[in-house]
Amino acid sequence: MKLPLGLALISMTVACSRDCPTAPARGAGTASPAAASVTPHDAAPPGNAVQAEMQRLHAALQTTLTGLAYGDVRAAPAAFAEVDHARHATEAALEGGAYQLARNADRLPRFRELDEAFHGALETLVEATVRNDLDATAAALGPVLRACQPCHGEFRK
Ligand code: HEC
Repeated sequence: MKLPLGLALISMTVACSRDCPTAPARGAGTASPAAASVTPHDAAPPGNAVQAEMQRLHAALQTTLTGLAYGDVRAAPAAFAEVDHARHATEAALEGGAYQLARNADRLPRFRELDEAFHGALETLVEATVRNDLDATAAALGPVLRACQPCHGEFRK
């Protein structure tokens, strides 16, 4: 489980940069490409519908990780509501042809299948954060994070 730990560390670096005296040195984190991608909306305005959705997803996960670190994940549901909102915009863009998948654009049914499964996993996560159940939240992150790369491998350039 390298990815969740990596994200957690990055998130904590960001969260602690202002108010955590034991935060790791910022320079080391911000120099790496992984850290740079934590705040894609800082680097550039949201691009297409999927990029906008992914940026909100990334932000919502960061909110969740920070909440786990501090023992209160109740800020997460509102952040995931924004992801859900963006997902509807993605769906509309796919339907109307405003967005074409970056890769394998002809495999829309497969994309939808992965997307459905992913949002099922997200629902479990959100339900745990609504209850402020830290153990269930941490457990629910696994399936969510494991779903990122398979979809990117097929549909992201
Ligand atoms: C069902 C498919 C799917 C899943 C699941 C998925 N993504 Fe993505 N993601 C995409 C696609 C497609 C792109 C490329 C969009 C483009 O550039 O047109 C993308 C791009 C991104 C980007 C770059 C956004 C930008 O501004 O260029 C980030 C960050 C990202 N995803 C994070 C994640 C994370 C974190 C997860 C898992 C927690 C995840 N994604 C799960 C489909 C998915």
